[in-house]
Amino acid sequence: MTKRRVGILISGRGTNMVSLAEAARAPDYPADIVLVISNRANAAGIERAQALGLKTAVIDHKAFPSREAFDEAIEAALLTERVELVCQAGFMRIQSAPFATRWLGRQLNIHPSLLPLFKGLHPHQQALDAGVRISGCTVHFVTPELDAGPIVAQAAVPVLASDTVTTLEARILLAEHQLYPHALRLAASGAASLKGDRVTLPNSVNQGGPLLSPAP
Ligand code: GAR
Repeated sequence: MTKRRVGILISGRGTNMVSLAEAARAPDYPADIVLVISNRANAAGIERAQALGLKTAVIDHKAFPSREAFDEAIEAALLTERVELVCQAGFMRIQSAPFATRWLGRQLNIHPSLLPLFKGLHPHQQALDAGVRISGCTVHFVTPELDAGPIVAQAAVPVLASDTVTTLEARILLAEHQLYPHALRLAASGAASLKGDRVTLPNSVNQGGPLLSPAP
């Protein structure tokens, strides 16, 4: 099995990055994490990545005159490590359209809502405000439009009447840590691939079952 060379983009605590790195330790996992890039020097995820023995780089967006120039620096770092697939994991920068287009079909993002609901900032608050009984997380291919790319995989969790942003975020984050390694496996192995504006999956993939909230 050939392992795809994966670069992870982070901005913060990096728990999703850790879940990908831990999954990638398995001999049969189809991806190797070869680089973790943070746009913030003080991101806790950088220390977490180093503790896992991963190669890291800080590329501070504030050091560049434009979004395009920042994205070119990211691209140069990715190409130096011969990265084939990019995973955004809590990366809080909007990319320039040329970068997103160049990596189309080769870049994933995780967002803590069941897209296309609750795009952008504060998705947990948006879910609480909407009164939904089920929310979750989505892994999708990145396109130039924010949080709108073709969906690879989703996980659903109940929203409880007692939930606050903190409790809902914690429940969704646990689901993210299961979903992202699974979705990267599908993408890196070639099982999930981009065909136009849809992601195709083989019939052999377990499609999961219903989540009822509240349960009967
Ligand atoms: C995660 O919940 C991720 O889904 C979210 O940021 C958090 C990062 O946590 N991403 C977005 O909201 C992107 N729009 P982490 O740094 O511990 O992985």
